Amino acid sequence: MLTGGRVCGDLFDDLWALLNTNMNVQVLKTHPKFFLKLPKYVRSKQRVFAFAREVLEWHRANPPVDREPRLIDDLVAGVDENGRPYSDAMIMSGIAGAYFAGMDTVASTLSFMLYSALKVPGLLERLHAEIDGVWESEGGLTPAALRKMDVLHATALETLRLYPIAPFTPRTSTKAFEFEGYTVPAGSEVYVANGIPHLLPEFFPDPEVFDVDRYSRPDQPKTPHAFAPFSLGAHTCLGAGAAEVQMMTLIATLLRTAQLGLGQPNEVTIFANPLPNPGREFAFRFDGMRKPL
Ligand code: HEM
Repeated sequence: MLTGGRVCGDLFDDLWALLNTNMNVQVLKTHPKFFLKLPKYVRSKQRVFAFAREVLEWHRANPPVDREPRLIDDLVAGVDENGRPYSDAMIMSGIAGAYFAGMDTVASTLSFMLYSALKVPGLLERLHAEIDGVWESEGGLTPAALRKMDVLHATALETLRLYPIAPFTPRTSTKAFEFEGYTVPAGSEVYVANGIPHLLPEFFPDPEVFDVDRYSRPDQPKTPHAFAPFSLGAHTCLGAGAAEVQMMTLIATLLRTAQLGLGQPNEVTIFANPLPNPGREFAFRFDGMRKPL
């Protein structure tokens, strides 16, 4: 809604198929290229691009005169490095991208965050106390309220640290370089293991413990870049801030309004298809409403 002004609705499964087939074939290279020719994939791609075409045409017909401009308006008005307007195909990929961005990222991280909130001893009680207290003193879930929710923020950070949905990021070396005694030739596929330092005790003491207090402890090492769930460098996640806000808003709202508990099985399993996620078996228990919004 923020970027495109339209919910994807029934198109969700097509977006999911398009994103994941491309991830498997083009990025992770776990699937052969003929997957991109399968009729089911081709139909999903056609439907997603027909939707992107509608969103594009709507933005062209309704320029942001008496409304705030969105990402799509910026794409329509933008020019490339040679000063030329972007092609329709480029803008439509940008539109589809806006719908992909939160799917396997925020959604899976949210499942792990909810699981941790329910599983880590004492955490749910602390979250309830913080969310209810701030909610009532601030008169709702405002940006100022979110900034005061330190335990909730630390829960988001610990989730991103222990359950990174992108524990490594693929790159292609443009020129040869030496690393730790190895020569990496130009054109090599390189995987940057940005999630590994998350589990090294020199950066995070007792790394396997989900510890929401570690970030406020004075002896917590503060090593630049050791925490990198959004990867690093020029292509680091553009939505990192939006993702943290989404995660905090959703979990605060869920925990405020509903009494939840762990479902069965009460241990999460991490699947990678293609990105780490808790699988379709992940479930939690709904024990009734807590408080009105
Ligand atoms: C928990 C949620 C998220 C995680 C863990 C995450 C993680 C990442 C990672 C690791 C990358 C870098 C990929 C690379 O270096 O090759 C990335 C790129 C990107 N992410 Fe996210 N992401 C999340 C949510 C979002 C959201 C909500 C948006 C949009 C609102 C978004 C937009 C983007 C964009 C546009 C890029 C590409 C940046 C570029 O190539 O210059 N992400 N994300």
